[in-house]
Amino acid sequence: MASVSKAVASTVLLILLATLPYMKVSFKGDLQKVLTGLLYQEGRYLVDNGRRVAVGFGSCWDLVTDGVKLLEASGISPPVTPEHYDVVSNGDDLAKIFAYFFESGAAAERFSNDSTFFNALVSTTTHRLNESHWAVGGNAPVISQRLAMEGWEVLLAALMRPKTAKSIHPSIKLSTDTGTNNMKEDVHLIMEFGYESVWGKYKSPRANRFILHNDYSNMMLESLNGFARAVIDFKPDLVIIGGLQMMDNFYYDPKIRTERLRELGKLLESLPRSTKIHFEMASFTDEGFLKELLEYVIPYADSMGMNEQELANLYSLLKAGSIKLVADFNPRVAASLDEGREILSMLETRKRNLSFSSYRQLTRLHIHTLAYQAIFTLKDSGWVHTRTATAKASLMANRHVCSSHEVNLESAKLIMDESFSVSTQPGSTRVLLTEEEPVSCWFEGPMKICVAPNIVCTAVYKTAGAGDNISAAGLSVQL
Ligand SMILES: *[C@@H]1O[C@H](CO)[C@@H](O)[C@H](O)[C@H]1NC(C)=O
Ligand SMILES: *[C@@H]1O[C@H](CO)[C@@H](O)[C@H](O)[C@H]1NC(C)=O
Ligand SMILES: *[C@@H]1O[C@H](CO)[C@@H](O)[C@H](O)[C@H]1NC(C)=O
Ligand SMILES: *[C@@H]1O[C@H](CO)[C@@H](O)[C@H](O)[C@H]1NC(C)=O
Repeated sequence: MASVSKAVASTVLLILLATLPYMKVSFKGDLQKVLTGLLYQEGRYLVDNGRRVAVGFGSCWDLVTDGVKLLEASGISPPVTPEHYDVVSNGDDLAKIFAYFFESGAAAERFSNDSTFFNALVSTTTHRLNESHWAVGGNAPVISQRLAMEGWEVLLAALMRPKTAKSIHPSIKLSTDTGTNNMKEDVHLIMEFGYESVWGKYKSPRANRFILHNDYSNMMLESLNGFARAVIDFKPDLVIIGGLQMMDNFYYDPKIRTERLRELGKLLESLPRSTKIHFEMASFTDEGFLKELLEYVIPYADSMGMNEQELANLYSLLKAGSIKLVADFNPRVAASLDEGREILSMLETRKRNLSFSSYRQLTRLHIHTLAYQAIFTLKDSGWVHTRTATAKASLMANRHVCSSHEVNLESAKLIMDESFSVSTQPGSTRVLLTEEEPVSCWFEGPMKICVAPNIVCTAVYKTAGAGDNISAAGLSVQL
């Protein structure tokens, strides 16, 4: 189904290796001052209490484990050559696809169509890997928890057992009744890997994770129906849509998927203009699906959030008509900003050209990468406190990955350069990173752009859910 050619993917890998030198620690300044600057910015505006958000989709149980240890315990050896698959049907596939993303440091999520194989991996993890742990997972629950902690009122689209529902923030309302405790919940196997982890001849250039699942209900977007009914009454200020990667590489008749997306599109179209819509990207590998999202979902977004891979993926589809499987894991600020500007402009041009019935305009874009945060907002579009949002997102990146509210500078470093160009165009302005005011903001016509360095956590606790926490942290102060 995915039409990405292997040749394209390996070219991308070569480019990736060529960019490795940018990994060097190039900021020589005082990290403590940078932290103080970020904390000051974060504290400037508090979340406006009583804001309401409705969040969809995807809820599951995450079984988090060390990927390499799981493969070893399952007797799965490193493959001779990595390879990409859309669906994982056995240990050989898993070895090859895991190696593929592991050696490029990229995050990925794939469906296994063999429940016996999948359940055996889950059983090995729970019985033999004593450091593994369970957590409520899925994009929507993570985003919901974050916003609930920030003081928002949250409506969450998820099908949960009453037991699971008890473990989420008590103020979160579910749009669908909980089932019974016997109901089967979807399990996602989170195979984490660290910076410079080794598996056979493979080595990971950064911490990340590969996710394997055997998930039917999220793939079918089963929680949409209850959500569509509840969201109108809830009268949210903001609707966040994420987790749609569960429908990527759809295992059943693609017409069913198109129909589900159309229904989602209808819901978004029916929301009042006063409700803002944020769409959180994910790593999509099925080009046809991303094209459908461009038709049924993205035209209704006022705001989008994405990491560096998702940025490269969307950019490549809009610009060249095809998607990119893995991209530079540490792109330079100038390159990301150029892509961000172009995406904002291409999506608007496209929407006008194809005359969608949407009267919304994409007025906000959040790019979260390993090294920095960049948030674009358009003037007079209702998004406020962009500088604070950027600082908050940056701090969240560290807090989430290190799993600690206090930022510990002993296990942290800046990997962003000491200065950056605002564009790759020759003669572009250079912005110097200053310790006292680490968040740099400027205007380009009606557009405000803010960039903040991340204080990158080097004692990685978990990477899964980082993007969701970061995006939600940014949004929490913008309305
Ligand atoms: C899973 O998919 C593969 C490839 O499409 C196929 O060969 C295999 O038989 C499938 N396995 C199951 C259990 O359906
Ligand atoms: C897990 O098991 C290993 C080997 O049996 C042991 O060394 C380690 O201390 C255990 N870790 C935990 C967290 O129980
Ligand atoms: C990120 O979100 C999850 C909620 O799913 C939460 O448990 C975790 O603590 C969050 N991270 C931080 C740093 O708050
Ligand atoms: C608008 O759409 C037409 C037909 O689909 C296409 O040929 C043209 O290049 C598009 N123009 C822009 C500005 O995207």
